[in-house]
Amino acid sequence: MNMNVDVILGLQWGDEGKGKIVDAIADNYNAIARFQGGPNAGHTIEFDGNKFILHTIPSGIFHRNITNVIGNGVVLDPFIFMKEIEKVQSAGYDPHNNLIISDKANLILPGHRLLDAVCEAALGNRKIGSTLKGIGPAYTEKYQRKGFRTGDIFYDEFEARYKLHREEQLKRAKEIHSSFADVQIDGLPFEEYEEKWMHALDQLREFKIESTEILLNRMLQEGKKILAEGAQGSLLDVDFGSYPFVTSSNTTTGGVCTGLGVPPSSIGKVFGIFKAYCTRVGNGPFPTELHDHMGEELRKNGHEFGSTTGRPRRCGWLDLPALRYTIMINGVTDLVMTKADVLDSLETIEVANTYKSQNHEFMLPEFRLGMSFQPTYLSMKGWQTDITQITEKSDLPEAFLHYFNFIQKELNSKISYVSVGPGRKQIIKTN
Ligand code: GDP
Ligand code: IMO
Ligand code: MG
Repeated sequence: MNMNVDVILGLQWGDEGKGKIVDAIADNYNAIARFQGGPNAGHTIEFDGNKFILHTIPSGIFHRNITNVIGNGVVLDPFIFMKEIEKVQSAGYDPHNNLIISDKANLILPGHRLLDAVCEAALGNRKIGSTLKGIGPAYTEKYQRKGFRTGDIFYDEFEARYKLHREEQLKRAKEIHSSFADVQIDGLPFEEYEEKWMHALDQLREFKIESTEILLNRMLQEGKKILAEGAQGSLLDVDFGSYPFVTSSNTTTGGVCTGLGVPPSSIGKVFGIFKAYCTRVGNGPFPTELHDHMGEELRKNGHEFGSTTGRPRRCGWLDLPALRYTIMINGVTDLVMTKADVLDSLETIEVANTYKSQNHEFMLPEFRLGMSFQPTYLSMKGWQTDITQITEKSDLPEAFLHYFNFIQKELNSKISYVSVGPGRKQIIKTN
């Protein structure tokens, strides 16, 4: 078996710029495949003056000759999916031609959206800060073996089974929190939303839905190259992230095999993407978070507002202990640094190199409830130069290269690309 499955995934808390990088290097591959997550993701792509935010559709969709696959590990909401499809179509692309959906991907039902909302309401100030897209409930029911898969929508019993199931979900929602009757989904009362969802389900039937694990393995046998596109980030992984403030899937390399049905021996490069600083949306630990004007400045310079929910992202300095951990878990072969240009104007840049807890120094984080860490910082001189138009490594300012080399050394890994702006062409090959 050749090692023709490369992986791109986020090493922090999501929004590292995965969509941009997938789109920028997509031409090196025959297929781009999402392996986990769902419409909680928001992957932004900018080219030729267009800007798209993809939630479920893989970020290779704007390359007409590339096959895009929604793998079995993804949870798919037909309503959100069809809204995305319409946007892509209105720009002159037709995903009916180059998008294939796994028949084993679980559906996000209207009841999952409702349950997500009431579960969060019931948690009060301990809430996760979910995107409220129904991710947790959809994966929960998948593992309870109660889920509905895309392949099921062609069977006659689908509707009858759905009716029974939604009654059970409504009953559960009522038990969880009294707010259930007031919950609106995308601004609509439950029944109205459900009607629209059903309409989208009919439209979903017109797409290619098949055993994508067979398709992908056939491609591998033919020597074709596949890029697995991660969603969220490694620190949101259900096992290795800052539990319970995580998402409900394995966002790390292990998820590629289970989420696509490709063997571990087929995995080649693992591109680990990180921002030159750090952000997080939603609740949970964030050791290097800045609560002062510097946090504000990073948010302003980096336009750090959620692609999916519009919420302001929490901002802070680069966290090397966290990156050491996620590089280890994922077997990262190549690092990709994004949003380096966001630091262009800063006089001084800080980096957390270790954590301290009760007089002990840690090179790796421990995200356990009750653990409190104090990051120790190193200060570095900023480059104070506009790097957004630079295309060659040799043209990067000396202070930038100092930052770059320091990170490579501390992480014991090479940085293969640096992204210096949101555009498809704003990327520098550095290795
Ligand atoms: P993803 O979820 O990992 O795909 O990332 P998002 O799309 O949620 O967030 C990344 C944001 O940063 C988007 O608005 C991108 O257009 C933008 N972006 C990506 N790379 C760069 C970069 O190198 N510089 C700047 N300034 N913006 C970038
Ligand atoms: P992309 O792919 C950033 C966060 C939510 C919340 C937690 C659980 O764009 O990087 P969920 O809706 O999954 O139950 O929410 O995870 N979260 C993300 N944060 N980027 C994402 O995706 C995210 N997907 C989920 O904010 O804290
Ligand atoms: Mg995002």
